[in-house]
Amino acid sequence: MMGGLENVLRKSVMMKTFTAALVLLAASLAACAQPATVSYDAAAKVFRLDGGGTTYAFGVNARGELQQLYWGGRLGATDTIPQAAAMPGWASFDSSYSTTPQEYAGWGAGLFVEPALKVTFADGNRDLVLHYVSHTAHPKGFDVVLKDIKLPLYVTLHYAIDPESGILARSATIENRGAGTVTVEQAAAAAWALPPAHYTLNYLTGRWAGEWTLTQEPVAPGARVLESRRGSTGHQANPWFAIQAGTPDEEHGEVWFGALAWSGSWRISVEQDQLDQVRVTGGFNPFDFGYRLHPGLSLETPVFYGGYAANGLGGASRLLHRFEVEQILPKTPATASAPRPRPVVYNSWEATEMNVSEAGQIALAEKAAALGVDRFVMDDGWFGQRKTDHAGLGDWYVNPQKFPNGLKPLMDKVHGLGMDFGLWVEPEMVNPDSDLYRKHPEWVLNFPGRPRSEERNQLVLNLARPDVRAYILGFLDKLLSENQIAFLKWDYNRNWSEPGWDQLAPDEQKKVYVEFTNNLYGILAELRKRHPKVEIESCSGGGGRVDLGILQYTDEVWPSDNTDPFDRLTQQDGFTYAYTPQVMMAWVTDSPHWLNQRATSLSYRMLSSMQGSLGIGANIAKWNDEEMATTKRLIAAYHQVQPTIVQGDLYRLISPRNGSEFSATQTVNRDKSQSVVFALIHSTQEGRVFPLLKLKGLDPAAQYALTVIEGKARTGTPEAASGAWWMNHGLEMGEGFRGDFQAAAFRLDKK
Ligand code: DGJ
Repeated sequence: MMGGLENVLRKSVMMKTFTAALVLLAASLAACAQPATVSYDAAAKVFRLDGGGTTYAFGVNARGELQQLYWGGRLGATDTIPQAAAMPGWASFDSSYSTTPQEYAGWGAGLFVEPALKVTFADGNRDLVLHYVSHTAHPKGFDVVLKDIKLPLYVTLHYAIDPESGILARSATIENRGAGTVTVEQAAAAAWALPPAHYTLNYLTGRWAGEWTLTQEPVAPGARVLESRRGSTGHQANPWFAIQAGTPDEEHGEVWFGALAWSGSWRISVEQDQLDQVRVTGGFNPFDFGYRLHPGLSLETPVFYGGYAANGLGGASRLLHRFEVEQILPKTPATASAPRPRPVVYNSWEATEMNVSEAGQIALAEKAAALGVDRFVMDDGWFGQRKTDHAGLGDWYVNPQKFPNGLKPLMDKVHGLGMDFGLWVEPEMVNPDSDLYRKHPEWVLNFPGRPRSEERNQLVLNLARPDVRAYILGFLDKLLSENQIAFLKWDYNRNWSEPGWDQLAPDEQKKVYVEFTNNLYGILAELRKRHPKVEIESCSGGGGRVDLGILQYTDEVWPSDNTDPFDRLTQQDGFTYAYTPQVMMAWVTDSPHWLNQRATSLSYRMLSSMQGSLGIGANIAKWNDEEMATTKRLIAAYHQVQPTIVQGDLYRLISPRNGSEFSATQTVNRDKSQSVVFALIHSTQEGRVFPLLKLKGLDPAAQYALTVIEGKARTGTPEAASGAWWMNHGLEMGEGFRGDFQAAAFRLDKK
């Protein structure tokens, strides 16, 4: 390995053009065939980052603008990248400033495409043209300083490449070194560019109980805007995109993808310009945005991650999953290593809703323990005067009628049963019918004298305010200090309205969009520091706050309130394009399901949920012996293969989308010693047999033994065969595998 590293270094130094800094990353030596490199060609003014299978390059053009040069498969170590040359304009209507794929374009000088940065200076000037000034290299990338051609407004662009996946982290710091105040009206984290070609855009849309719909469409002239104006990430669109060359394909073709790490209002625009080039710009949503930078102040944007895969949408999501597990999610505190697979959870919500009581929860806990559950979570209803959703939010004391002896008897019972204990909270919200609101009506987002629109009978506390931040951190810290709580389910059940911050001068108030989310992150970080063993789930009425920002502080997410096992297949399929199954909590609930009134077997429900991080959310107090036995058996089987399912490489063999009769997923662990396969029939039509499953990602030369977890394989299927057999000959389902809502699962173990 070191020999290869030295060769790269020697060749780079020998190359005439590579005259200046060459920084080699040692961090990836253990994991990568090729080390990551970060280099600057001073003669050509070209910056280059290599990591995993990816090269990213940009340079300074003759005008002084920073221009993207290349993003794609890894180039040869000695290849040189030509100097940046601005693109020609198109007639007198599209100037070169507009057609040149700038890394971070200021709105000025006739820019008609999406700007990365738009400001108004104190004197009313709104023209901003950013030119390269200087840079510093660091082991993972660069900080590149740009400045307006006249005024002392500086932007530092941050670049870092992950040595293993080649995923880039990009963000910007905008700094006012002038004497007057500058209002930032639009600030992106980064802009990504792709050359002219036929592309398909993939993105995720939805609504409450219907999140994670993969939407696919050709990239067309004009702009497709993905956004949330809601103050938080939102169910309706998710800050992730993938652009595939040509038409969508799971395992073939080039894919460029990105995810914005921001849990406030956000926007990603995907634009095809007049030269058919594609530009993806993402960051704070400019709608209703205005951040006043007084002299000496600066604004940090969120990070926009971007990656490249040569092997289709499946390859892209596998890279992203690994990156999330290894680089984004909080580490397991005891070992400081990658996050551990999630405990199998029992959650009380669908069983009791807010009618929680000591006796009722203990009865559920006893049955949960008998199933082999690891964690018992009491959901909404335990605090304040919470009988319905009309009251209680904001008053975080234990309800004395429901828990006359406090939480201790329940927690002791749960611990005695061998499980850890978790609790639901919704810290950023308040019911007008609460002691907190009666005391501090000024703490909510509002415009004085205007209505305060309620949703679910609640208002949003203005977390941007220092006193609200202190209150929320204070009560959560107390709750965690005084109780043995291993887990918080952190909920957030509405979006913003009337987002005023009346403590501040009118022209300062719009910074609520930045400060609210930064304070949320700050509280989460501080809680994790003070209570390092506590784990946290991000929930927002289901999947309304899932993004790479919140995932830096939370261990898992609740993808949807819709727990119908059939609907969940499509949701899980969509979810996994952007997020790892490690964070994808999936509960088994009762049948018929409350939302669709669809009846399904327990085994179908279990196998639907076992494709993610498993939980039980049914009213198990009513379950009979057979239901208990089936679930106990499958939880035990799940525990044995869970690391492979949630942290392995995921292959979506058959998508449940577009009315498919079938679906199938396969996961393979990192050393290819185990694989798990799920096959589900939604509704057999015209007697069609389940498709042959040609497995993927196995070691072709190794022998793998087949174990049936549920269902059966076709008569004559070998008990063991080579990886080549399973991948080429394939796995056939057992005879008679047809009907409605049928499910089978298998594991393969290397012998
Ligand atoms: C919405 C969540 O998504 C549900 O799981 C549950 O916790 C309820 N809120 C409780 O109010």
